[in-house]
Amino acid sequence: AETTEEAGDTAADSGEKITVGFAQVGHESDWRTASTNSVQDAFSEANGYDLQFVDCDNDSAKQIEAVRQFIQNDVDYIVIDPIVSTGWDTVLTECEDAGIPVIVIDRTIEDSDKYVSWVGSEFMNEGLASGAWLKAYAEAKGITDLNILVIEGSNGSSAQIGRTDGFKKYADAEGWTILDSQDGDFTQDGGQQVMESYCKSYAGKFNVVVCQNDNEAFGAMDAMKAAGVSYGVDKDVILISFDACKAGLEYVQSGDINADFMCYPLQGSYCADIVKALKNGETVAKQTFMTEPWYVAEDILKSITYTNNAGDEVTEDLIQVT
Ligand code: AHR
Repeated sequence: AETTEEAGDTAADSGEKITVGFAQVGHESDWRTASTNSVQDAFSEANGYDLQFVDCDNDSAKQIEAVRQFIQNDVDYIVIDPIVSTGWDTVLTECEDAGIPVIVIDRTIEDSDKYVSWVGSEFMNEGLASGAWLKAYAEAKGITDLNILVIEGSNGSSAQIGRTDGFKKYADAEGWTILDSQDGDFTQDGGQQVMESYCKSYAGKFNVVVCQNDNEAFGAMDAMKAAGVSYGVDKDVILISFDACKAGLEYVQSGDINADFMCYPLQGSYCADIVKALKNGETVAKQTFMTEPWYVAEDILKSITYTNNAGDEVTEDLIQVT
């Protein structure tokens, strides 16, 4: 693996390509496509990189294997977007022993600190914000009885864990009924299948659906439409989503999704900056959080206040999509 040396604005300024291995989660969602493009752009040949990209197809064993292959290939840096948050210590120790710095993006790793830096979202705050919004929205609309169905993201991912725990904190405190909470695997098909089964099991019994990403929401909308359930602004069901990708925001604009909590996918340039800093022998931050706005279809609420995961009471603007 490469040791510290001088570098300019682009890695290419040093004249020698920097090799980076990127073990990506898969290709399950619009968000993931944006993430892949962002990392591939940041580590392009023109920028002086030789990127080894592996789409791990949402398979944890394949992802560990990809990292081991990067070690075999003696890459200079390894970037991992971990499918699940545990099971990392052994392979990260192998990276450390090989002298290859690891950067983690997007999802977090819970069982090891053997990586130099992480860039991503505070998923717990996304979940808390969605709960705070639903509480304030239901109050504003005079809705007192909330019966909720959740379509979770891939179980064991930090995105699923944070969004589930953050929202549940509000549901528990407010005494909301969560009728069911099943894994939709962050895919449109998964969202549709889970929602089809919910529409049969809970027909006429639910008035809120929380999808843990936009693609699940697209599938859930198809399933509700087929079952004759209306959703969105002033309809039978309040629909909440996460990611705020382009198509998701179009559905917020049309009033089909009531609120969409952004997860910022363009983390490639942050990652490349970390590689450049490491190459220059500079110290890098252990954590970098993305700034994430919350989007809504109506203007009845201007902001929400909640206690975030750091324990701070925050008031954040809601952006109405017009
Ligand atoms: O880890 C980020 C999550 O993974 C995004 O919310 C989702 O769309 C993706 O698949």
